[in-house]
Amino acid sequence: MKRRLYTKSYDINELTKLDSEKLFTAKESEELIEIELGRSVFRSKESVLEYYLPKCFSKFEALEFLKNRIEEEKYQNIISFGSGSSVLEYLLYLSLSKDKNIVSSEFNNFYVEKSNEFFPEFLTIQFDFTKDTLSKVDTNFDIAVFFCSSYVMDDDEFINFFKHLKSEGVKEIIDFDSAFMTKTTQFKNAIRPIIEVAKKFKSTTSDNFEGKFHGYSRSRKELLNLYKESGWLVKKELTLGVYKFCAVLN
Ligand SMILES: C[S@@+](CC[C@H](N)C(=O)[O-])C[C@H]1O[C@@H](n2cnc3c(N)ncnc32)[C@H](O)[C@@H]1O
Repeated sequence: MKRRLYTKSYDINELTKLDSEKLFTAKESEELIEIELGRSVFRSKESVLEYYLPKCFSKFEALEFLKNRIEEEKYQNIISFGSGSSVLEYLLYLSLSKDKNIVSSEFNNFYVEKSNEFFPEFLTIQFDFTKDTLSKVDTNFDIAVFFCSSYVMDDDEFINFFKHLKSEGVKEIIDFDSAFMTKTTQFKNAIRPIIEVAKKFKSTTSDNFEGKFHGYSRSRKELLNLYKESGWLVKKELTLGVYKFCAVLN
């Protein structure tokens, strides 16, 4: 089962100006983040950490798992896709020995600039996983990480990009998915049409804004199918904190 996800977690006035049925473009994402957090949060490294660290607590288990995996397998070159603020990548950097090479990546150039300014310990590049290829970076990566970002891609983009990573010699992918559709959400989705009709009767027109489309929630079966189609084998499946489904792929 697969379902489109909608978000209202930005300024509603700004959000309603955008096409709600299309994914955020890099430009839309840059403008929203700059308007909402530019002056308040992205003022300094301290204010970025103060804002994002509390949101990272539920991700510590995943970070610890990743750190151990990198150390056990002696992976040297690590790339993270759709890194947002890059705070998770900074925490990963702090937890690993300093000989490891971390590259953080994001399509939103505002995040990229701020990450390079506040976290110069590792490189952050602008990278759109629906358009770009690893030829943009002159490194052979051992491991690629998605902290809740692969869900943005539709099936074709997902398969193409994961295939591309394999063809570029990436040895392992860890896909930490917090958009995962659990059995409970699958049940809720099944009865959603009834709830939606009931809501329409109750609410006014302005309440009807569902939010902006930002990616897909997929069930285990859907995800396993995408991994298989893109040529990756599932070595491990886990639940780690907020990431209800994590897949280690080889
Ligand atoms: C749910 S956020 C996760 C951010 C971060 N990894 C974290 O866990 O805090 C998804 C991220 O994917 C980025 N993103 C969306 N579409 C993208 C694309 N086509 N290429 C690269 N990054 C993208 C967004 O800008 C956003 O930062």
